[in-house]
Amino acid sequence: MRVCAMNLRRVLVVALTAISLPIAAQHAPQRAAVASAHPLASAAGIETLAAGGNAFDAAIAVSAALSVVESFGSGIGGGAFFLLHRAEDDFQVMVDARELAPGAADRDMYLDAAGEPIPGASRDGALAAGIPGLPAGLAHLADRYGDVPLAVSLQPAIRYAREGFPAYADYLERLRRRAPVMNEVALEALTPGGQLPREGELVVQPDLAQTLEALARHGAAGFYTGVVADRLVAGVRAGGGIWTLEDLADYAVVERRPISGTYRGVEIVTVPPPSSGGVALVNMLNMLSGYELAALDSASRTHLLAEVMRRAYRDRAEFLGDPDFVDVPVERLTHPYYAAGQRTTLRMDRATPSEELPGIFADGSGGGDQTSHFSVLDQAGNAVAVTQSVNFSFGSGYMPAGTGVILNNEMDDFSIKPGVPNGYGLIGTTANAIAPHKRMLSSMTPTLLKSDRGMALLGTPGGSRIITMVLLASLAWIEGGDAQAMVGVPRVHHQYYPDVIEHEAAALDGTAISALQGLGHSLRRVGRDYGDMHVVTWDFASGEVDAASDPRGIGEPRFGGR
Ligand code: GLY
Repeated sequence: MRVCAMNLRRVLVVALTAISLPIAAQHAPQRAAVASAHPLASAAGIETLAAGGNAFDAAIAVSAALSVVESFGSGIGGGAFFLLHRAEDDFQVMVDARELAPGAADRDMYLDAAGEPIPGASRDGALAAGIPGLPAGLAHLADRYGDVPLAVSLQPAIRYAREGFPAYADYLERLRRRAPVMNEVALEALTPGGQLPREGELVVQPDLAQTLEALARHGAAGFYTGVVADRLVAGVRAGGGIWTLEDLADYAVVERRPISGTYRGVEIVTVPPPSSGGVALVNMLNMLSGYELAALDSASRTHLLAEVMRRAYRDRAEFLGDPDFVDVPVERLTHPYYAAGQRTTLRMDRATPSEELPGIFADGSGGGDQTSHFSVLDQAGNAVAVTQSVNFSFGSGYMPAGTGVILNNEMDDFSIKPGVPNGYGLIGTTANAIAPHKRMLSSMTPTLLKSDRGMALLGTPGGSRIITMVLLASLAWIEGGDAQAMVGVPRVHHQYYPDVIEHEAAALDGTAISALQGLGHSLRRVGRDYGDMHVVTWDFASGEVDAASDPRGIGEPRFGGR
């Protein structure tokens, strides 16, 4: 009872209404599906369905398993956005389990006496960590939407932590890269004896297993109060961080109404602030709705995509932040009339230099492959799209003693100084300035598409490039493509600043590149392909369920019953 009351207290429910999607003749899904970044995580979801869980329980299992087997991308030391679709009442909600700034945080906490950013301060070490939201998110899903207790849905993750998972090349490469910033505790846990594990060697994490067991036994209280909380706070403060026990005890998830839009008869259901992704996605599709995109050649299509991306990312920089702290004009930015106004500045015969758009400027670049996305569908038609993160690979690199928990460095997703780019080259203004208990702006964009044809669940990691990857994959499905086409689409990206189209090698041939340069674009081919998208689709006419994992990663979908 005590735990139940505590969990209820944690839940701050913002006024919600069911969003009604178009009713089409639906055949129930012929099978359940999970697509995630690691085969063991996908298997954890199927195992939980077989144990009597629904899609929401399976999502808990997948999320926690990723915390163990892909701890460079996400984990219980980080945060998540859970986009849920409950079939029985056609109800959609976003469970916002984003990290938030500690109570002692300050707008200028990463600036030196001269007002300049202190190198690395918002990225490496205990001071870079926001208060984690993921454990509260898992407990909330179990309490409110699940059919089985956490003791069941966390079982696979606990087993992977206790018995180990085989080290793999990508895990080891990221560990090697981030090891130089890790604290002693993290190094001892992840590189026993000072050695990187060999490929295939089992990575065993007994402290993490114990922390997951506390969560399984006591729900959110097992993480945010008691022994685990004591260890987290003591560890953070020993490393120069500013967390308090109250910061942890007061953490609460927020249920938020998803953003929705329509594009060519397809309903887009996606995440609201503190993600910037949903607003930008709907805004970009609204802008695109004024053109016959499918009729354009490669260069014109890329030009148009880059121009709508540029405009959406400009607005991201100016307007987006934590809606509990700043008034984000969501209605305006996602309104078709607003997009119509933006279209009047867009020319098909030349690029608009970013400096010609009103406002904000800086330079920077990029997007990483950290963070993790997965999609789950059960045979009742419940659907979950989740993107979760610790920000950089292995987050801040900091692990409080006795917890096994790698802490995020999500504080870098705040704008630490107006116009100064974060780790992804993204800029911001006061809307995303640091304040105590505020959530930092995110690009994570778990999304659900629905039309008479069926449903698609999608999302990806990739820092600032997440939103444009979700746009391209959404267009692939809207234009008739299947799950494989969605994850395979070659990627192009523009984020306002730097004023450049970044692209994968396969996205543009020489002719298209010359044509784009002729329009005034700068182009940069990325060094390696990026993103790790995981998609599940459901065809309403046949009930057929398909799933695909990004060919750029090692994930594999799994199918099962229930
Ligand atoms: N940490 C990546 C994001 O939330 O956008």
